Amino acid sequence: MILAPMQGLTEVLFRRVYNHHFPSVFDYAVAPFVSLTHGNLADATKKIDDILPETNVGSIPVIPQILGKEPDEFIALGNRLADLGYTELNWNLGCPMRKVAAKHRGSGILPYPDEVRHILDTVIPQIKTDISVKMRIGLTSRDEIFRLVPVLNDYPLKNVTIHPRLGRQQYTGHPDLETFANVLPLIKHPVIYNGDICTLEDYNTLTRRFNDIADVMIGRGVLYDPTLPLQIKSGKKFSPEEKKLSTALFIADLIKNINSELPTDEAKLRKIKEYWCLLSRSLPITEQQARTVLHASTLPQTQQLILDFIQ
Ligand SMILES: Cc1cc2nc3c(=O)[nH]c(=O)nc-3n(C[C@H](O)[C@H](O)[C@H](O)COP(=O)(O)O)c2cc1C
Repeated sequence: MILAPMQGLTEVLFRRVYNHHFPSVFDYAVAPFVSLTHGNLADATKKIDDILPETNVGSIPVIPQILGKEPDEFIALGNRLADLGYTELNWNLGCPMRKVAAKHRGSGILPYPDEVRHILDTVIPQIKTDISVKMRIGLTSRDEIFRLVPVLNDYPLKNVTIHPRLGRQQYTGHPDLETFANVLPLIKHPVIYNGDICTLEDYNTLTRRFNDIADVMIGRGVLYDPTLPLQIKSGKKFSPEEKKLSTALFIADLIKNINSELPTDEAKLRKIKEYWCLLSRSLPITEQQARTVLHASTLPQTQQLILDFIQ
């Protein structure tokens, strides 16, 4: 089981606290992307703190991810990461942000299999790490993945993670499991499924239907219910009381770490509220109760309200 990359949420602070509370439930995490910018590797390397081995002591084992289409920067950053001990680099072919996709980055490159071939052709002979990819089924059409798979099959990729939505869908609608089912037998690499696994039932239904996937990657489901991976591992659904107990301890520790690591009260407040919006779903409280925290304006007020809910 793999923790999905989520910018702003699954950086090392989260991964470390999570691993402390739920040790070894994830085999590894893919880190939120580091963006390559043409001719500006320095900019990308500035952002690798999150994946430095020394920063990740005690964290979930991590695979770095890059977003971009510049072969030279891809190779240079990959080889720098290889020198730090990384053996795999994940290439983001799924980011749906319009500004990103417009530049043929993330999901924006999915309609252009020749560009993907050119990048893999250039990068693979020169990079010291294995390459894996994380992709959507297309930018605007599900036909795109069927044109891309023969290209991906020509290269020695470590694995292919598929989030079966289109880029232009962002996170709306449902994962397109029909397309996933049709494309799965065509891919010669190990395939990892990703998308909308939020309960033990979701996991069971999906893995029963697709028993030849290599693994699953879970993102938002872990924030809606941090005990979900443990439930999946044990095959046992947790009661609301069990969920509350583990989630409360986890939230308290996450807040403690945010307080000690973020620089300003403003940054702390913003981050605590971001996590609260998602994690509060795992507590036996109403949406209206959860919202009271979002209306609090100071850090002490916010923390006190959260403490009242998790005690
Ligand atoms: C806030 C947020 C940030 C994300 N950041 C990244 C990222 O940096 N790299 C990436 O490949 N996917 C990113 N994703 C997509 C997730 O990794 C995942 O593919 C998506 O959330 C679907 O899986 P889920 O339903 O299990 O959450 C992000 C998603 C969200 C909601």
